[in-house]
Amino acid sequence: MRKVIIAGNWKMHKTRAEALEMLQTFLNQLYETPEDREVVICAPFTTLDTLSKALHGTRVMLGAQNVHWDAEGAYTGEVSAPMLTELNVRYVVIGHSERRQYFGETDTTVNLRLKAAQKYGLIPILCVGESKQQRDVGEAEEVITEQLEEGLLGVDQDNLVIAYEPIWAIGTGETCGSEEANRITALIRSQLKNPEVPILYGGSVKPGNIDEIIAQPDIDGALVGGASLAPGDFTRIVNYQA
Ligand code: 13P
Repeated sequence: MRKVIIAGNWKMHKTRAEALEMLQTFLNQLYETPEDREVVICAPFTTLDTLSKALHGTRVMLGAQNVHWDAEGAYTGEVSAPMLTELNVRYVVIGHSERRQYFGETDTTVNLRLKAAQKYGLIPILCVGESKQQRDVGEAEEVITEQLEEGLLGVDQDNLVIAYEPIWAIGTGETCGSEEANRITALIRSQLKNPEVPILYGGSVKPGNIDEIIAQPDIDGALVGGASLAPGDFTRIVNYQA
């Protein structure tokens, strides 16, 4: 039985005060959420300490949005795995398309970050997905296969989550059709050594489409951007109707 994970990716949103305000409402609404669903919030570095305390004793797991491959060193602007685990961070998003697109992340650095995360006991959420242009010329499968091949070299698949995030569906309101998302998810699964790895879908997941997405047999959860910022929307998403 694969684990169901609903993870919010707050990206570069929320000060500490805003994060606490969101949680106050969100946590109070979680009583209806079935226990077997893992709920995760991947928050900006500056909020992690505050959120770690606020989430202590709750069922919500804390996640970060990136991690460096060394434990320490002269890497201005980076954060290491021991810095995250000290704050009880459990998950970390790696290789998000925004990091690949704006910050020069490559499959090689993604691979280094994945291995470092696992070495220190973090569960990486590896993001893969194609651009609109790559999809239009029929390269989606090839792009994803390459991201997996290079990204997962030497990575332990017993301690891993993958998110399929088609770039053209991120923040655009244009969701990938659920059957197509399931087809790509199944393709990803067919390339893994461990078929039990949870595979999430991400890209314009909203209260109005989560039920249909999660109903797909190969999709084990969601990585939610914009709709994870508002407590009402995110509650409806974690309370999806199976
Ligand atoms: P949106 O849900 O805002 O489309 O973002 C998806 C995403 O990038 C999650 O990592």
